[in-house]
Amino acid sequence: MLFPLLLIALLTPTGYGALFERFSDLQGTEYDFIIVGGGTAGCVLASRLSEDPSFNVLLLEAGGTNIGKRELEIPFLYNFIPSQNSWNLSTTPQERLNGRSLSFQRGFVLGGSSSVNGMMYNRGSSGDWDRYAKVTGDPGWSWENIQSYIAKNERFTPPADHHNTSGQFNPSVHSFKGTNAVSLSGFPYPIDSIALEASKQLGGPFAFNLDYNSGLSLGFSWLQFTINGANRSSSATSYLNTEALSRPNLHVLVNARVSRVIPTGSDGKDEEDANSSGGHNPNKLKLTTVEFSQDLQTFHHLAASKEVILSSGVINSPQILQLSGIGNSSYLSSLGLNITPLIHLPSVGLNFSVHSLTHPVFIVNPNFTTTDEIYQNASFRNALIQEWLAVGMGPMVDSAGGSQIMYLRFDEEVIEKELGRTDSSSGPESPHFSLIMANGFYPNSPASGKYLTVSTEIVAPTSQFEVDFDIFSPGGSVLLARAVDKPKPFSPPLINTACLKTTYDFHAMRQAIKTVLRFTSAEAWKGYILGPFTDLAEALYGSGDTDLDTRLDTYIRNTASASGHAVGTASMSPQDADWGVVDPDLTVKGAEGLRVVDASVLPYIPSGHTQAPVYIVAERAADLIKQAWGAKGSS
Ligand SMILES: Cc1cc2nc3c(=O)[nH]c(=O)nc-3n(C[C@H](O)[C@H](O)[C@H](O)COP(=O)(O)OP(=O)(O)OC[C@H]3O[C@@H](n4cnc5c(N)ncnc54)[C@H](O)[C@@H]3O)c2cc1C
Ligand SMILES: *[C@@H]1O[C@H](CO)[C@@H](O)[C@H](O)[C@H]1NC(C)=O
Ligand SMILES: *[C@@H]1O[C@H](CO)[C@@H](O)[C@H](O)[C@H]1NC(C)=O
Ligand SMILES: *[C@@H]1O[C@H](CO)[C@@H](O)[C@H](O)[C@H]1NC(C)=O
Ligand SMILES: *[C@@H]1O[C@H](CO)[C@@H](O)[C@H](O)[C@H]1NC(C)=O
Ligand SMILES: *[C@@H]1O[C@H](CO)[C@@H](O)[C@H](O)[C@H]1NC(C)=O
Ligand SMILES: *[C@@H]1O[C@H](CO)[C@@H](O)[C@H](O)[C@H]1NC(C)=O
Ligand SMILES: *[C@@H]1O[C@H](CO)[C@@H](O)[C@H](O)[C@H]1NC(C)=O
Ligand SMILES: *[C@@H]1O[C@H](CO)[C@@H](O)[C@H](O)[C@H]1NC(C)=O
Repeated sequence: MLFPLLLIALLTPTGYGALFERFSDLQGTEYDFIIVGGGTAGCVLASRLSEDPSFNVLLLEAGGTNIGKRELEIPFLYNFIPSQNSWNLSTTPQERLNGRSLSFQRGFVLGGSSSVNGMMYNRGSSGDWDRYAKVTGDPGWSWENIQSYIAKNERFTPPADHHNTSGQFNPSVHSFKGTNAVSLSGFPYPIDSIALEASKQLGGPFAFNLDYNSGLSLGFSWLQFTINGANRSSSATSYLNTEALSRPNLHVLVNARVSRVIPTGSDGKDEEDANSSGGHNPNKLKLTTVEFSQDLQTFHHLAASKEVILSSGVINSPQILQLSGIGNSSYLSSLGLNITPLIHLPSVGLNFSVHSLTHPVFIVNPNFTTTDEIYQNASFRNALIQEWLAVGMGPMVDSAGGSQIMYLRFDEEVIEKELGRTDSSSGPESPHFSLIMANGFYPNSPASGKYLTVSTEIVAPTSQFEVDFDIFSPGGSVLLARAVDKPKPFSPPLINTACLKTTYDFHAMRQAIKTVLRFTSAEAWKGYILGPFTDLAEALYGSGDTDLDTRLDTYIRNTASASGHAVGTASMSPQDADWGVVDPDLTVKGAEGLRVVDASVLPYIPSGHTQAPVYIVAERAADLIKQAWGAKGSS
């Protein structure tokens, strides 16, 4: 037995047969599918498509491998992700936020953003999915019809401390057999029972909801996380597991950045200047060749015999489409980038939608235990990391954001009087905003003190759309910059998150912070919360003759940020629509052999965090692709 093991070890130093660092190591293999981006969606596709041994699959990832990176494994170190694993992006100046440019992170590593995110597991509300079905005209995207994909993705597991989780979730709405691990938090803190008590005392919209992932998300719930025992469960750790990486028909090439897709002729050769199809559909342009680089200077071309699938995320997928000549033709021609427009799809990069956040902070009685000391005392932190390494227990097993969440709606009067327009949510049982009780100063504590942060997020924003309905004024966008500003194909695009751009969204944030004050005034917090922290205190009790709303607006302008939850830049729309980028089967309109499968295809932002929706989209896409090519075992 020793001999074959030794041989494998000698041939593949990493121990992972399918993982390559250099293009030259692939040795001229031909591929049926080339997936661009080994992120949340890309790893799902690589894993599912290579289940059929007759498909040769190549996954190209711009970043490096996740394997052996401790900061990506230990859940609490979510706020210590190394910059080598980040795209280091920032937004254009945000007009409603004092012209500030906001940080906008994306994972630059196998697993993509699922390797660096906060791990909260939220499917969205049933209304969100039913709206996707309605707006795309494809019932396959309805809440009812995506249940099988939730089940394929999710594997509910016990928390690290193996506490009794009865009453903290509803087992009947979970899957215990899927690929990606999900669990409740595995380390208790005093805040947990205090917040639960506050929810009981206040009742009404704050009342307990056994499971926010049941389709009905409103109320106070225990959070669920993509955590496996003590470890982060990312798309890379779960879908690109050792079994998948041992398949001979799957190759993963890291440090490979795709610049564009180019037309492929009927002979399989690149056709840079022609737009003839491969003979299947004369009205469609066959785009199955990728151009990529490992040193960002020299370029390689590689053609897929069946499809190229863009899974580069909400920023990079629309960037690659535009660099390929797919977008608003007149805009692309005006850039001076020497791009030949191929398919006129003016929605590429538009309708970008993101959840905006504020983080109101309260000072906490120092007699209680919070997470602040973990940031403040490096020796303490290192001792906890040692505990994690030795026994897989302690505070490091949890994400840093908090263990409980509330999903809430504005009441009708507020919508009408304060927000001045009709309901922006996906239905009468879908939320407008969420509050997460973070047990410490979020995201990083000052040198001393103990805190509570109530992360306040607008989950049904309108800034994506036309302001006030009648004026055409695109909201958020991801567009290539002009050559004079950013001359190279790998320069980041202009990212306009349009945070709180509409008056509606801005007032929604103000209302949401007022709800935070209602929740933290419950009797249960007496003796725990000592008072608001400096900038919040200034907003609440500030001097001068300004009123509360004016001071809150200043607070919002000074502190609001963009969450990592963003969608919409390569949106699905009905097959015959005059807007949108992909059909409901995720094929690019006007193209053949090209799909987009990632967060960009969702036409509206879900009312929960976005990773579970991306997993669901990717699982269904894998099925659609297998069906289209008659895969073995496809349904
Ligand atoms: C800091 C942060 C915290 C978050 N917290 C949560 C949370 O707690 N819960 C939640 O549900 N969601 C969270 N999210 C959002 C969630 O992680 C994302 O919506 C989701 O992971 C996006 O998946 P994706 O497949 O669309 O893109 P990604 O997972 O980002 O994958 C894109 C991949 O493509 C690669 N790539 C990009 N360009 C190229 C190129 N040109 N060539 C080759 N490869 C390329 C990237 O390196 C990356 O690996 C968070 C996001 C961030 C950034
Ligand atoms: C982000 O910055 C780090 C550190 O400077 C660097 O190593 C990494 O390559 C950068 N990411 C990208 C996508 O350029
Ligand atoms: C867990 O708690 C529930 C309710 O409190 C109780 O009925 C059940 O017996 C407990 N399970 C175990 C294994 O202790
Ligand atoms: C966490 O992952 C490491 C490998 O990185 C593994 O050795 C360990 O067993 C895992 N722990 C749990 C609890 O799954
Ligand atoms: C396309 O871009 C041009 C600017 O180059 C803009 O004027 C036009 O409105 C855009 N078209 C659409 C449909 O968005
Ligand atoms: C090819 O595309 C160009 C635009 O780039 C267009 O003018 C031309 O008519 C197209 N040719 C065919 C055969 O579709
Ligand atoms: C934005 O999305 C809406 C539907 O949700 C659609 O009607 C509109 O045309 C889209 N706008 C663009 C520029 O794609
Ligand atoms: C902390 O506990 C000590 C001892 O019980 C008590 O004297 C002190 O008042 C407490 N501090 C606060 C802020 O409640
Ligand atoms: C920091 O943590 C170490 C290890 O737990 C502890 O011994 C030390 O007292 C702490 N320092 C402070 C200032 O609390």
